[in-house]
Amino acid sequence: MKIDVLLGLQWGDEGKGKVVDVLTPRYDAVARFQGGPNAGHTLEFEGKKYVLRSIPSGIFQHGQINIIGNGVVLDPVLFRQEAEELEKSGVDLRSILRISKKVHLITPTHRLLDAANEAAKGGKKIGTTGKGIGPTYTDKISRNGVRLGDALHNFDEKYGSLREQHLARLASMGATPDEATLADLEEKWLDAVEYLKGFDIVDSEFLINDLLAQGKSVLCEGAQGTLLDIDFGSYPYVTSSNTISSGACSGLGVAPNKIGEVYGIFKAYCTRVGSGPFPTELFDATGKRIRDLGHEYGAVTGRERRCGWIDLVALRYAIMINGVTQLIMMKSDVLDEFDEIKACTAYRINGTVTDRFPYTIEEDIEPVYTTLPGWHTDMTKMQSEDEFPKEFKDYIDFLEKELATPITIVSIGPDRKQTIVRNRK
Ligand code: GDP
Ligand code: IMO
Ligand code: MG
Repeated sequence: MKIDVLLGLQWGDEGKGKVVDVLTPRYDAVARFQGGPNAGHTLEFEGKKYVLRSIPSGIFQHGQINIIGNGVVLDPVLFRQEAEELEKSGVDLRSILRISKKVHLITPTHRLLDAANEAAKGGKKIGTTGKGIGPTYTDKISRNGVRLGDALHNFDEKYGSLREQHLARLASMGATPDEATLADLEEKWLDAVEYLKGFDIVDSEFLINDLLAQGKSVLCEGAQGTLLDIDFGSYPYVTSSNTISSGACSGLGVAPNKIGEVYGIFKAYCTRVGSGPFPTELFDATGKRIRDLGHEYGAVTGRERRCGWIDLVALRYAIMINGVTQLIMMKSDVLDEFDEIKACTAYRINGTVTDRFPYTIEEDIEPVYTTLPGWHTDMTKMQSEDEFPKEFKDYIDFLEKELATPITIVSIGPDRKQTIVRNRK
């Protein structure tokens, strides 16, 4: 068996959580492979809404195994909050969740460093989620990190040494924490590490490869999006992990030839939260209308999401980098009332038109748009694609042609049920 990967093609918040939940019944296991509590994946069903940060979105279906893979970074305190809330709402998390020994732990001083790094950047700040993601992956790559498996061996020494390094760095940045505050944060954190140890901590690379060898299927859930990828995103305004499909190999210990379908998920328009360039961003009433109708506010930080038209230059690039085999279009209903819809098919840079995503999108880019008619139809209660209005079908056809990839699922509302699986041609 192969693993299928579902990941975001834009700047995150495409609706990954919703679709992973919808697809979970087709799979035996669901795994996260990168990112950490910077993610906020929203699921809605039976009148309830859940936001997941570090725990995979496959926990609400039929007892599938959910795996937090080695590529993830975990904050024990936030994990504990998330897990306790889920257990309160009746999820038997301990029986279905497995956590890799190799996940790196986010410490209280990682979060302080995240804040200090941002402050030091001033006007050039990334606009991070403040969860300590960058400093934790920095320590991983510079071989100083503390892994969950270390909590089982020699922990005090490893944590103590990392803590000293962090405090020295914070002091050099003029950001030494108040002693009492740090002591309080550490006490909670150490308690949460003990709590975390009560979960099933495993060698998840063996678990996943054993599942595949037994003919079981695995869905991998990406976090963030391709344009936030550390290598291919809008660097330096990116996150600190490989959010792309190859990240599933390194983040789970699965070989590239084991990847099957790659589901690329995108909104019918585009959003971004945090700083950095965004060629199709709208600063006018249309942008505000998309934000209002799409409730475009961050699931983790509550920040306003910046809104704009769909960017096909960036999407083509994301499809290429990820090897996307199927597309999933989200939030189509948000455009239900628009007279016309625009799609950016190329960039004009210094007078030259290109359909290739450039090295940097920080320079002056003028999007070249194709305008399509709106459908003026409430699609939120539709049950099948046969009910779609003609203009919306034309929009889908246009996108499939431009992107040379089939759109197999269309989402028409936040609820699990507002999902239309299309017949494959
Ligand atoms: P993720 O991080 O990719 O899982 O996405 P988020 O959960 O951060 O953001 C997606 C938001 O859109 C959430 O509030 C979802 O409930 C909501 N959502 C998902 N799909 C749809 C849809 O098709 N239509 C509408 N109107 N909302 C949706
Ligand atoms: P999900 O999984 C949208 C953005 C932050 C910031 C940049 C770096 O819900 O789609 P970080 O805290 O990772 O160092 O921040 O990345 N960012 C996200 N934007 N969705 C996310 O996750 C994000 N995770 C990080 O806003 O611009
Ligand atoms: Mg999100």
